Amino acid sequence: MSYIQTKRWNVNKSMNLQNKEKYLQEAAQWIKQGNVVAFPTETVYGLGGNALDSDAVKEIFRAKGRPNDNPLIVHIADRAQLDELVTEIPEVAEKLMKAYWPGPLTLIFKASDRVPSDVTAGLDTVAVRMPSHPVARELLLKADVPVAAPSANLSGRPSPTTADHVWTDLAGRIAGVIDGGPTGVGLESTVLDISGQHPVIFRPGGITLEQIAEVAADVELDQALVTEGQAPKSPGMKYTHYAPKGSLTLVRDPDRIHELVASETAQGNRVGVLTTENRQHKYKADFVFACGADGDLAKTAALLYNGLRQFDDHHIDVIYSEVFPESGVGAAVMNRLLKAAGGRIIE
Ligand code: TXA
Ligand code: MG
Repeated sequence: MSYIQTKRWNVNKSMNLQNKEKYLQEAAQWIKQGNVVAFPTETVYGLGGNALDSDAVKEIFRAKGRPNDNPLIVHIADRAQLDELVTEIPEVAEKLMKAYWPGPLTLIFKASDRVPSDVTAGLDTVAVRMPSHPVARELLLKADVPVAAPSANLSGRPSPTTADHVWTDLAGRIAGVIDGGPTGVGLESTVLDISGQHPVIFRPGGITLEQIAEVAADVELDQALVTEGQAPKSPGMKYTHYAPKGSLTLVRDPDRIHELVASETAQGNRVGVLTTENRQHKYKADFVFACGADGDLAKTAALLYNGLRQFDDHHIDVIYSEVFPESGVGAAVMNRLLKAAGGRIIE
């Protein structure tokens, strides 16, 4: 692959408004011209290209090294953009959009012929979301095209929550990165299928099951999220994902972690522990990451991917992680941790 000079635009809060305007205009122009550009959203950084330009979409897959059977989410800034992407808008979708758009909720609709099959990976449905991050919104408005955007990481790596994460994975492979500071939610959007009889959660995320149930009481979880060995309906969920380089195992009983750490250390491995501020000081490992405080699941979600990447920065071979409560956004935290661990959990 040839090396591309990757541009970096800083539009952080401290930037003067004129430059910010100029940078976003330029990045939007590049997207219109068929280039791919990484940008912040309220969940994680996305790698965006014109969703209606099949070549731009192919470029996204190439840059990430993403398997092409894994469809992309189309990002829009304006409700009117939805009409050309989908064939029908069920009533429940109207309610959900009213309640949670813009925000971290992706909805799966029946796709129109306008959506290239590269975006949908050949499915007859398309995933659409309206991000709430001001930089994402401004960029989408200026680009004035729907923007296909997966998380802006190399395929298989933890999703990026800062522009530096994007840089580490994709510098030299993409046209540019807009640095808008760290993202807020820290985990990806909830993927909800509303194209069938009942709304079905394919991927837990920023909008919780409880929040969806307030609007759509008949919401269900995809069986693959509940039962082991079931094929997930969301193609992306079948890949080992979000993974640090070291081998990660979840451990239900924190007391067990001490002996596991000691045993791996004795074998000459560099060992890491993922815990919370409450027990951080109890572990004697090469690197201990405190993922928020007990009970503060929003903070845990916001820090998780950054933490997983830090184990790599510390060259950790073996990682043990505590488990987290599965209520609210905790469901998404545990979903990502289990995926990162390839399902390994010591009960
Ligand atoms: O928060 C997010 O959703 C971020 C930001 C950048 O918006 N994007 C993101 O994209 O996480 P990605 O590509 O990493 O994950 C998209 C997920 C994958 O699991 C994919 O399989 C699923 O959505 N998906 C996309 N289109 C689908 C479809 N038509 N049917 C079922 N699943 C779909
Ligand atoms: Mg991803």
